[in-house]
Amino acid sequence: MKDSLVIPQNPVTKMDASTDPISQFQTWMAEAAASEPNDPNAMSVATVDATGQPSVRILLLKGVENGAFQFFTNYESRKANELANGKAALCFHWKTLRRQVRVVGPVEKVSAAASDAYFEQRERGSQLGAHASQQSRPLESRDVLVQAVSAVEARYNGQKVPRPANWGGYQVIPTEIEFWLDQPFRLHDRFRFTRSGNGWQVQRLFP
Ligand SMILES: Cc1cc2nc3c(=O)[nH]c(=O)nc-3n(C[C@H](O)[C@H](O)[C@H](O)COP(=O)(O)O)c2cc1C
Repeated sequence: MKDSLVIPQNPVTKMDASTDPISQFQTWMAEAAASEPNDPNAMSVATVDATGQPSVRILLLKGVENGAFQFFTNYESRKANELANGKAALCFHWKTLRRQVRVVGPVEKVSAAASDAYFEQRERGSQLGAHASQQSRPLESRDVLVQAVSAVEARYNGQKVPRPANWGGYQVIPTEIEFWLDQPFRLHDRFRFTRSGNGWQVQRLFP
């Protein structure tokens, strides 16, 4: 008689009603920071335009503040136009850990003070670049960009570079956070947390 299939289990982070998904995310992010060769905070940011056409690109998560996922970008970019509908989705994939986290929720701009504070920490070159780049608009040549950076450099020579009005942060306030862990035979573990009042409800999902 054949033995029945025994599914080996990787060590599993147990997730249940006592799990706070934000703390769980922070734990995974710290583990990713230790294991990924670069940019553990890189995430896909998905948006949709007015016709319902989705669009996605990689951005860097700059922190989770009061439970909201923050990133910084140009407020006149394609993504900014699409984020104006107030909705976004994020997806992290940590290849060496074989883990994924998905986040869904409303999105809003962070305060001007928070954007100023983050802009001030950036390298001067990146500050100048933020002024020079008309993100997502057509660019005739690389020379045009280099000249734009030189012009900004000359303008702020010897001075602090102020945050451009069209550059700042957004935050996604999660209504759903899903954790995915690799398991053998594609019988992966999935735990979806859904916001419920002041807390969260958790459900295990089929892989
Ligand atoms: C690893 C990585 C990190 C990135 N981080 C950012 C970021 O934090 N902010 C940003 O505006 N663009 C970032 N980008 C560039 C975006 O993917 C994208 O090209 C740009 O924001 C324009 O997108 P849009 O035209 O959809 O607005 C990053 C790209 C990569 C590959």
